[in-house]
Amino acid sequence: MTQVVLRHIDLSYQSVPVLRDVNLTVEAGQFCVFIGPSGCGKSSLLRLIAGLENPTGGSIALDGAIINHVAPAERNLAMVFQNYALYPHMSVYDNMAFGLQRKGLPRVDIDRRVAEASRILQLDALLARKPGALSGGQRQRVAIGRAIVKQPKVFLFDEPLSNLDASLRAQTRLEIARLHRDLHSASMIYVTHDQVEAMTLADQVVLLRPAAEPGGGSSVAQAGSPLDLYHHPANLFAARFMGSPTMNLLPATVLAPDTGAVALRVLGQRCAAGVEPHGLEAGQPVTIGIRPEHIELGSGPWRGTVVHVEALGEHCHVHVCHDDRSPPLIAKTVDETVRMGDMLPFDFPAQTIHLFDASGQAHRRLRTR
Ligand SMILES: Nc1ncnc2c1ncn2[C@@H]1O[C@H](COP(=O)(O)OP(=O)(O)OP(=O)(O)O)[C@@H](O)[C@H]1O
Ligand SMILES: [Mg+2]
Repeated sequence: MTQVVLRHIDLSYQSVPVLRDVNLTVEAGQFCVFIGPSGCGKSSLLRLIAGLENPTGGSIALDGAIINHVAPAERNLAMVFQNYALYPHMSVYDNMAFGLQRKGLPRVDIDRRVAEASRILQLDALLARKPGALSGGQRQRVAIGRAIVKQPKVFLFDEPLSNLDASLRAQTRLEIARLHRDLHSASMIYVTHDQVEAMTLADQVVLLRPAAEPGGGSSVAQAGSPLDLYHHPANLFAARFMGSPTMNLLPATVLAPDTGAVALRVLGQRCAAGVEPHGLEAGQPVTIGIRPEHIELGSGPWRGTVVHVEALGEHCHVHVCHDDRSPPLIAKTVDETVRMGDMLPFDFPAQTIHLFDASGQAHRRLRTR
């Protein structure tokens, strides 16, 4: 089991900052997922840990030992890329065995490790095939097998499923979760765009945020368990990033920052938010957030017109327009009778409201979930 600690990591490419003051800890045996918008530096962060890039500043430690100057091959990490990078002229067996043969491991050990990896990944029947005769999912399993046989301290995955179609992605996602359970000593760091992968695989999600101004470099917007990021986004960036459809955000004014429930004016009505009132003052403009599944349709002080309905079978996304000045709110409901043009009352339950101050920082919600 290996702990990975990054402290004050800066990275620039040709003096253009990409990462700035990134701090994070991946605990031994943890499944950590890096997520964030395209180009925010997720792959770069993984490559830094692998030793394929050198940080401009800061330190990377494995189990307390700084490895900034340790060569990639000496770090005992294994990286699995999006584009499998298999040797086309070698069999599945040889693709997995090659790295071990080069290290000079005894044949019997190589056979044992390849057999173990192919059992875990259900590749036994394919060992003699060449990559050209495999499906995308099977090739990705070989690439993962090549990492497993190295018995690395840490697995690094860079969007390993993004070349696969939707059903294969779901299946391989389960396989990776099972792999993490089976190899219980392995720490895994996994980069993805896919929120479902982040939510379902991670013990810890690390959300990266690009700097507000160009050239500033990305930093960590929030790190925590998937449900913590979903239910307690620390800032507007995390609130907007996690969840689909995204959280509804509305301007509001603080009326009374009372303990227990902060009184607010939202879309012309008074309402209460169950959030930590510390630092709020009457008259202060804030932003409130409410997830689509928390808007109650059918009762409440607000009224709006349904301007669009997306019926997905398991539930519907109902777009409700309160007035001409505000964008429609999106509510999730299982009620399939809602129609375009309906005029509906709606409500924001106090315990489901998120509140963000002018700098975008969240006030902690009082009820923990
Ligand atoms: N070798 C390089 N030289 C110069 N700039 C680079 C280099 N590699 C990456 N970059 C830049 O660094 C930034 C971060 O790239 P990176 O690939 O780490 O992002 P990412 O979060 O993995 O993006 P994606 O989600 O699209 O894969 C991008 O602006 C990219 O253009
Ligand atoms: Mg990338």
